[in-house]
Amino acid sequence: MGGKFYPVKGYIDFLKAASSDIESFWAREASKLEWFKHWDRVLEWEEPFAKWFAGGMLNASYLCVDKHLYSWHKNKVALYWEDEEGHTKALSYFQLYREVNRFASMLRNLGVNKGDRVVLYMPMIPELPIAMLASARIGAIHTVVFSGFSSQALADRINDTSAEILITADFGKRRGRLIPLKEIVDETLKLAPTIKKVVVIRRTKEAINIEDGRDFMYHELIKDAENYVEPEPLESCHPLYILYTSGTTGKPKGVMHSTGGYLVYNYATYKWVFDISDESIHWCTADVGWVTGHSSIVYAPLLHGATVLMFEGTPDYPDPGVWWRIIEKYGVTIFYTSPTAIRMLMRYGEEWLKNYDLSSLKILGSVGEPINPEVWRWYYKNVGGERCPIVDTWWQTETGGIMISPAPGMELIPLKPGSVTLPLPGIDAEVVDEEGKPVSAGIKGYLVIRKPWPGMLMGLYRDPERYREVYWSRFKGMYYTGDYAMKDEEGYFWIFGRADEVIKVAGHRLGTAEIESAVVSAPFVAEAAVIGKPDPIKGEVIVVFVILKEGHKPGDELRGEIIRHVREHIGPIATPDEVHFVAKLPKTRSGKIMRRLLKAVIMDKPIGDITTLEDEASIEEVKSVYEEFKHIMKSRL
Ligand code: WTA
Repeated sequence: MGGKFYPVKGYIDFLKAASSDIESFWAREASKLEWFKHWDRVLEWEEPFAKWFAGGMLNASYLCVDKHLYSWHKNKVALYWEDEEGHTKALSYFQLYREVNRFASMLRNLGVNKGDRVVLYMPMIPELPIAMLASARIGAIHTVVFSGFSSQALADRINDTSAEILITADFGKRRGRLIPLKEIVDETLKLAPTIKKVVVIRRTKEAINIEDGRDFMYHELIKDAENYVEPEPLESCHPLYILYTSGTTGKPKGVMHSTGGYLVYNYATYKWVFDISDESIHWCTADVGWVTGHSSIVYAPLLHGATVLMFEGTPDYPDPGVWWRIIEKYGVTIFYTSPTAIRMLMRYGEEWLKNYDLSSLKILGSVGEPINPEVWRWYYKNVGGERCPIVDTWWQTETGGIMISPAPGMELIPLKPGSVTLPLPGIDAEVVDEEGKPVSAGIKGYLVIRKPWPGMLMGLYRDPERYREVYWSRFKGMYYTGDYAMKDEEGYFWIFGRADEVIKVAGHRLGTAEIESAVVSAPFVAEAAVIGKPDPIKGEVIVVFVILKEGHKPGDELRGEIIRHVREHIGPIATPDEVHFVAKLPKTRSGKIMRRLLKAVIMDKPIGDITTLEDEASIEEVKSVYEEFKHIMKSRL
């Protein structure tokens, strides 16, 4: 579609060559970064643990800021920031360097050392990337927790890292409201006793609680900071960060990324996928609190010396033209967002786009969930003006960077709406059956990666066994992604969503087990089962089935209470759409809840094989509860 395309065949031959000798291929990419010390070995692979560029020394903060001081980049804008009220900030690379150094000095003064974990619970303000780069500068390991998570979710993550220092702000801002982050932190610390010091960035004059000896004001501490802190030379496998993500159990997984491999991987793939350059104004609409924000707002664009745009706001506030206005205002060249956001803006209509000049755009991106072909076409036509390739990028928190995607920075192959196209060079992706054997074209199977890659997670923080178990035990010698996929006749990949107990709500990754344990924490709940239900805007929404304890009456009051519990335990992103009360849940004879059956009922699909079902009456009850629900919904329309 549009642009200049090349034959797929030549490109596929190139991909094959790249993944046949991954070591020399990745060594070539690694030599594009500046290392304090060259690596001794490209890869030490003891499945499932990879050490990329072992023995090499480098520093992420040096590469993202200092390096640009020795060229004309010094005085170019590194970061534009705007909030939903139209307040703006711009930092040149020199100013970013100054701020990162002073922040790093402040961390040192607070006693933070190499290897210490620093928890960042912050809104989308420039201080967040600054804090990440400052931690990296001194070899501390940052762990960003999305500021939409509740105090319980934050406490769980802090306790897993046993961090002693937390950085936050007094308030976040969202749709004209203030989000009391410091108040949430105060609640959190009752449950997370390892934190000794809290640094608060003041954005408002509103009153907040200050605990002497524990809470410090950033603007006061920074007065004593030095202008320069030597960037710590770090071994390639020194952890750059830990980022928690949801899995199949209630306990979030601390995905740990390396310094060398992660940076090399993001540097290389960003060039291929987004054709990023000096002239790029790059806008990724994700929150820095997710992996997309880590790689696509902070590390990849800054490594390349591009200009990053950071927007603290939502797609439709104060009106659904706000994103288009921002693109016009800053002359955005690369725009990277989620299918949920596009679906939402599509619903508001093209009228909102008409008043804005989007001709600066060169490449459009999509990430986080499958994009429906009609939404893809709308995006291509109305946002990209039929000029801009869409890069539908498949990746995960664990993969560190983009794995399967068109790569117009290298070669623009024909695009197919809804397909993530081909794996990037060096990535050996395959679709396999239950036994781990590749399936034929057109057959659905499990997506796996058969060779290590530099961006891969080093493991799960303090839990090597769980790492092996979750990712490397399902199929021998292969990394299991947890996704369903298919390859077509031309080798193009199509992703169909999760094959495990993970759901994607508006692109946010949530575990059903996490939500179930939040529901069960309500004192009147005996048991709960959570499933994802397809939704035309959000991709999936949360549906809860609940068994109440004896003596409690189902009804709107308890429904409201359950929703409140989930919001308090996880955060507003996990708010259930539907709560249904039942007397029994469909279970196997060994007592496992059969969520597959619940899903079949709400989607009006055949129930399929129920030979393992313990009690058939349970599924009959679910059916009748759901029929009644549908009836009520219809009568309300
Ligand atoms: C899903 C986000 C279809 C997938 C970077 C994966 C996608 C999960 C795509 C990881 C895509 C991501 N098309 N599905 N282009 N990109 N996914 O860890 O199910 O938040 O396993 O990382 O998102 O979500 P995570």
